[in-house]
Amino acid sequence: MTTNKPVKKAVFPVAGLGTRFLPATKAIPKEMLAVVDRPLIQYAVDEAREAGIEQMIFVTGRGKTAIVEHFDIAYELEATMAARGKALDAIDCARATPGNIITVRQQVPLGLGHAIWCARAIVGNEPFAIFLPDELMVAHPGSTGCMKQMVEAYGEVGGNLISVLEVPRDEVSSYGVIAPGREVAESLTEVTGLVEKPPVADAPSNKIISGRYILQPEVMRVLEGQGKGAGGEIQLTDAMARMIGSQPFHAVTFQGRRYDCGSKLGFVEATLALALERPDMGAEVRAMAARLLA
Ligand code: UTP
Repeated sequence: MTTNKPVKKAVFPVAGLGTRFLPATKAIPKEMLAVVDRPLIQYAVDEAREAGIEQMIFVTGRGKTAIVEHFDIAYELEATMAARGKALDAIDCARATPGNIITVRQQVPLGLGHAIWCARAIVGNEPFAIFLPDELMVAHPGSTGCMKQMVEAYGEVGGNLISVLEVPRDEVSSYGVIAPGREVAESLTEVTGLVEKPPVADAPSNKIISGRYILQPEVMRVLEGQGKGAGGEIQLTDAMARMIGSQPFHAVTFQGRRYDCGSKLGFVEATLALALERPDMGAEVRAMAARLLA
């Protein structure tokens, strides 16, 4: 069994159809929708870099090339901006280290579990992180991001980790839900069971999986032979549930805020919250919001 090998690879499943955002996502990937001035995928990649992850594996599909373009050099743009004496800081952060972005295709969006399995050859025999870019995780000021907190916990307990947060009980049916076990430390709990989209009455807790994972490569073997689960999709939650008992499994409660940018309401909330916090525009946004609410 592989435990505390460092986490250097991350998989970003970005092959979903984004139907909740149509028509915006007809020609533009959901992951390229911008919260203030950064696309969702950029927030996720920045969080990965902060956690020491070096290799970004995008599981893409048709119509998703803009995601890869985003991390390339925009030669014409950069040359023109430089010639006009404009600072390049705004696009520097969107440039990947050469060779650090790898893409694989998920030909048909059969579900999150299937998307992850499509990255098996690149993941190889190493532990890896997963980021769902439509879940925007925002660190408290002066604190670290969600994946960095998870990597620190991984250094303590190894094995598999997922990030969780508490939601009102009547909302659990839209998410993967954990059965919590022993509390190992503050914000770190053993996981004894996992269930995807349970009816409220059957939910083992109100702690939902929130878009960040550190998994051991054995999960690829489990996904290999797995059939469809909730919603007719190949579910990552089902594969993880089958690993409980044979490998350590823990949940980290992120000390920070999470916005569900896969839903319109969550996206608007994230945009407003982040704009209010920006030193360059927060005061004006506050005044504008007050005006709109008056
Ligand atoms: P969602 O459940 O949010 O699905 O996927 P979606 O297709 O993106 O959006 P809606 O529900 O139609 O509006 C969660 C993450 O898993 C990826 C998505 O791209 C998203 O990042 N995903 C999902 C895949 O890569 N492949 C799949 O088959 C399903």
